[in-house]
Amino acid sequence: MEKKLEKYILDHSTAEDPVLEELYRQTHIRFVNPNMVSGHLQGRILELISKMIRPQNILEIGTFTGYSAICMAKGLASGGKLFTIEINDELKLFAASFFEKAGLTSVIEQLTGNALDIIPRLKTEFDMVFIDGDKREYIDYYKAVIDKVRPGGYIIADNVLWGGMVLVPATRDPQAKGIISFNEMLRNQKNIEMVILPIRDGLMIIRKVL
Ligand SMILES: C[S@@+](CC[C@H](N)C(=O)[O-])C[C@H]1O[C@@H](n2cnc3c(N)ncnc32)[C@H](O)[C@@H]1O
Repeated sequence: MEKKLEKYILDHSTAEDPVLEELYRQTHIRFVNPNMVSGHLQGRILELISKMIRPQNILEIGTFTGYSAICMAKGLASGGKLFTIEINDELKLFAASFFEKAGLTSVIEQLTGNALDIIPRLKTEFDMVFIDGDKREYIDYYKAVIDKVRPGGYIIADNVLWGGMVLVPATRDPQAKGIISFNEMLRNQKNIEMVILPIRDGLMIIRKVL
């Protein structure tokens, strides 16, 4: 997006929460690939979507440093819970320290390990799922989770435009191939409705109809 327009959008959106501002800065200082973090614009969108749904239970695949988890947890219904899965155990304490700073420790449960091993063991029904793990595994995440989403519930998938590489079907980039296959697979599903929001790297909003 053009820089001036992006600045205008951010200037006319609610300012970033100071805890998230600090989390964003620390993520850039301390981690490789800091660009994986959601950031202000996408974070606000996730927060407001969550506030619209008012979910009892949220599942996130790919915690990283915890930015999106904090945003979505702010929309939980009273007594609700957000489960967030991260394969890299070195991120756990860092993310936990920011969940505490955000006052959300009691509603966020961190699960460490491979989402594809953990999801089948979860007994919870989810109102909202955020898929943001390894792009090559998006179809597997979707298949693992769809039966655990309540009818009328939502799955949101990040990076579904993959920097525009979705327009290059012959690409050899495995991540781009994963995203292209995921988007194609969704087109053939009968029990969902969906739309791509062209925000940041593309957010797919999927509603499970039945
Ligand atoms: C794009 S980052 C997540 C960013 C975070 N959701 C945010 O918006 O701030 C992706 C994360 O998924 C994790 N990941 C990749 N494959 C995974 C898997 N199979 N199970 C759980 N986590 C995984 C990576 O270690 C990485 O931290």
